[in-house]
Amino acid sequence: MLSQEYINEVKEKNDITDVIGGYVTLKRSGRISKGLCPFHSEKTPSFTVYGDTASFYCFGCQAGGDVIGFIRRIENLDYVEAVKFLASRAGMAMPEESKNDGLSRMRMRIREQNREAGRFFYRSLYSPMGKNALEYFHSRGLTDETIRRFGLGWSPDGWDLLVRHLTEKGYKREEILAADLGYSARNNGIIDRFRNRVMFPIIDLQGNVVAFGGRKFTEDAVGGKYVNTSDTLIYKKTNNLFAMNIAKNSKSRDLILCEGYMDVIALHQAGFDNAVAALGTAVTPQQARILHKYADRVILSQDGDEAGQKSIARSIPIMKEEGLDVKVVEITGAKDPDEFIRKFGPERFKMLLDGSFNDMEYSLMRIEQKYNISTDDGRLHYLREVCEYLGGIGNLEREIYASRVADKLKIEKSAVINQANASARRKNKLEKDKSFREMANKTAGIGNKINPERSSNLRASNAEYALLALLFNHQDIIAKAAQILPPEQFVTDFGRRIYSQFIEINKSGYQVNVTLLAENFSETETSEIVRIINSDKPRGIDDFDDLVDLIKSERFIPKPQDASKLTSDELLNQMSLLKKKKT
Ligand code: UTP
Ligand code: MN
Repeated sequence: MLSQEYINEVKEKNDITDVIGGYVTLKRSGRISKGLCPFHSEKTPSFTVYGDTASFYCFGCQAGGDVIGFIRRIENLDYVEAVKFLASRAGMAMPEESKNDGLSRMRMRIREQNREAGRFFYRSLYSPMGKNALEYFHSRGLTDETIRRFGLGWSPDGWDLLVRHLTEKGYKREEILAADLGYSARNNGIIDRFRNRVMFPIIDLQGNVVAFGGRKFTEDAVGGKYVNTSDTLIYKKTNNLFAMNIAKNSKSRDLILCEGYMDVIALHQAGFDNAVAALGTAVTPQQARILHKYADRVILSQDGDEAGQKSIARSIPIMKEEGLDVKVVEITGAKDPDEFIRKFGPERFKMLLDGSFNDMEYSLMRIEQKYNISTDDGRLHYLREVCEYLGGIGNLEREIYASRVADKLKIEKSAVINQANASARRKNKLEKDKSFREMANKTAGIGNKINPERSSNLRASNAEYALLALLFNHQDIIAKAAQILPPEQFVTDFGRRIYSQFIEINKSGYQVNVTLLAENFSETETSEIVRIINSDKPRGIDDFDDLVDLIKSERFIPKPQDASKLTSDELLNQMSLLKKKKT
């Protein structure tokens, strides 16, 4: 454990506004600064840094915390690593490595085992026993140079050859299980996760082997086509991209996104050093963020089958949302990029890339393929779906593609554009209704998972939050508050838990701050606490008695009908009543 004194010093030497200013362009006004949130994509700044409470909160994605929490999120580190990161930023001596620091140590042990396993698989591939696996790679056109560059390997055909090797190297049973390199067998033994498979190591951006994929390569082998490492302390499938560690060094600002390990490797061998693969079917927002760090444009090069097309359809909006340009190559004459290159060569693949469609051309083409536009009926249905689609894209783009559609159908452009505009208006209205509804729900606390009692105790919960903000800013009266309003009298459980922590921290002689609170709350709860203590309508010390009275009296008021069961109109009614009561 790091000592409280050490952590305090780290925080004192790392002013939150300075630290965050290194990642986000902040506009200061007084002790509050605003900027574009680095944790989700947005066009108007809702990311706020509060100098006074040494905390940050984003009103767009509800991320919040202290300077350590910020570094954890943005650098993807655990708590201790984040503290060390900040310590070194401030030029402080590193804390004594302590044995209690279990998670960090386990992470290190998993990393070391994976490196060891990678070497073991590589050696096995080039051992006499690995002959068939090596032949398999060669038969798929891979050179020894490529095999070395990607660190490919073979997991030997046995029950526990790797497990025994790791055990000899001093790794304990629970460490091997935590790395997911083995799984429990009866009689307390462990069985190798990967047996008789060709192995693809997954390497993170820092060059650590973090996981493996193992492919079956003989007909008689058991199990599915691929076996993959499950999520571990150092690996989350949805946060990683295969070969990103190599592609990040490419000079190109394009990245080619494929489906499979073999596609990526074949592309690299053919000279496309910017190919990567997502490790599932569709791209996740986290993966899109990583792609955007190294590229302006992503060229989707998925398999030609229905699954590949589905994955494209799901990936496009996620990448657009992240602000990436998207292009799509259509692979024809081969099932995937790997086969395409083997059949037609790299030059032809380069031509595919150059002729790739932007995401709108791709979508229009997919719609066209669904209908037979040589019949009137087909033209009608095609037109209907196309106009619906055009209603969802930008105005300029709508103009351009409406013309193309009109030309294709040999009809007036106005017919297309009118329909498309009508669809755009409909979509806008739906969007507005939705965001209004969401706003209303938020104000009424509906769907608030962090404080589920909030919606049916809105007045009490508002008073609790206001009191907590007041106490955070006037910590000298926390002790007095504890006497006249014991935590039991709080109405909502979440409010009560925060209040109890305030009292406890205050009693032990510390200043209540976000870092100490974070120890007893989850990440999302901590974010909400940051929002609460940085209330935009802070109450003065004069309001203290009123707030206490309000909380006390609300305890005995029968609960109104659960707001989540109200209709929109009833909800609006209730909200306007509440507003009137306040004034
Ligand atoms: P593919 O079946 O297209 O595999 O799955 P591939 O890598 O192109 O293999 P070849 O060419 O048939 O040898 C694409 C990707 O989906 C994941 C793997 O990452 C694979 O590379 N996958 C597929 C799995 O994780 N598990 C599976 O059972 C299948
Ligand atoms: Mn393939």
